[in-house]
Amino acid sequence: MASRRAPVKSARRQRPGVFAGGASGTLTGMEFLAQKQIVLGVSGGIAAYKSAELVRLLKGAAARVRVVMTPAAREFVGARTFQALSGEPVWCEWGDDRTAMEHIELARWADRVLVAPATADTLARLAQGRADDLLAAVCLASERPLAVAPAMNQAMWRNPATVDNVGLLRRRGVEVWGPAEGEQACGEVGPGRMLEPAELVRRLSDSFSRGALAGVRVLVSAGPTREPVDPVRYLSNRSSGKMGYAVAAAAREAGAAVTLVSGPVALEPPPGVRVLRVETAAAMLEAVQAQLAEGCDIYIGAAAVADYRPAAPAADKIKKKAEAMQLALEPVTDILATVARSEPRPFCVGFAAETGDLMAWAQRKRMSKGVELIAANPVDGGRGFDHDDNELLLVWEGGSKRLERTSKTRLARQLVDEIAVRYADATTSQGNHAEHSA
Ligand SMILES: Cc1cc2nc3c(=O)[nH]c(=O)nc-3n(C[C@H](O)[C@H](O)[C@H](O)COP(=O)(O)O)c2cc1C
Repeated sequence: MASRRAPVKSARRQRPGVFAGGASGTLTGMEFLAQKQIVLGVSGGIAAYKSAELVRLLKGAAARVRVVMTPAAREFVGARTFQALSGEPVWCEWGDDRTAMEHIELARWADRVLVAPATADTLARLAQGRADDLLAAVCLASERPLAVAPAMNQAMWRNPATVDNVGLLRRRGVEVWGPAEGEQACGEVGPGRMLEPAELVRRLSDSFSRGALAGVRVLVSAGPTREPVDPVRYLSNRSSGKMGYAVAAAAREAGAAVTLVSGPVALEPPPGVRVLRVETAAAMLEAVQAQLAEGCDIYIGAAAVADYRPAAPAADKIKKKAEAMQLALEPVTDILATVARSEPRPFCVGFAAETGDLMAWAQRKRMSKGVELIAANPVDGGRGFDHDDNELLLVWEGGSKRLERTSKTRLARQLVDEIAVRYADATTSQGNHAEHSA
């Protein structure tokens, strides 16, 4: 959805066989709408009855919806229907007290404004920049992205006046969604049907995707692993999984199709992310390899995987004895290094929780694992684990960058932005290499 602010540029090169996200709506469901504030403008067309379903779907996607109706729209659907479905007041006309500045307040409240259906008359008023009813005034006052879903008789849609109005709106950055072709309420056949509510909701949802990784398949591993000692005991670590979950959420926000292989944690799955739960390092490796086989563009190893596990877990609970006991440990297969050696190989990002000289450890780990990027975080004195904030040192071939201490959510977004840039560079240079060697 076009914004009148600077658009977020995609750092991604489209790769063959990777489905595209964005405005086509093929990638996402509706998860980007949670807690988003939508002003839905309803103008006076037959399709206004479909807007009730639109409100229902938006509410189902956890968006907040405020409906603004034109006076003509009220001839088609009662305000009470929208009020009941949205759980919010419905705005129809200017209030008696014009000092209330409803149009400005609604414009400021909205993250997005969608006019559906948008009649020929409303499109003409928007094209002219009029503010002679509340809906037109909200559209004019809003600095947020505006989309319209035209719905009208096919001849009205084809009329040069409408064609000009729509062209003008498009040039100003207004998204024009639809119309679809087909049989019309008036009995004619042609373009002019409002897009289906589910399609409009998908497009709205996609408009909140940050987009830099749209169409990219990202696999994230997160959390600790548990290595059984006996049926009731295990060896584990202090990882909460918060950073990995935040990275998965940020990658999803950036438009990626995200699978999260998670060790045991007490966290809610991030919206729109497929979560596979595992316990042991061996099960995590198996799940990661299965995902690689399905196809993966970027692997982000944020799990705190055990380095060692009990060599021979007891089948029965080990009984307490007076004397000391020895527990034989064996090394665990290194998941990150295994992924980095796999073929075909995704772009690999590893995490390193280190004490001491962070830069030196991060460089060493990047080289030894053979990965593109290491995100190192200091864990001296328990820093980093189970906290809501963190800091990172990113190290790649020929460069490094420090991400200052902030919430794990913000840090994850910064990290994902950086990964998107490095990934785009890597795929571009791979493409150039392929062109040169061809
Ligand atoms: C039964 C009926 C159906 C209508 N359907 C549409 C329609 O689908 N699209 C449209 O552009 N106008 C339609 N109109 C005309 C609009 O209602 C009219 O242009 C009105 O001024 C629109 O006002 P508004 O854009 O402020 O809501 C219809 C009118 C009637 C009486």
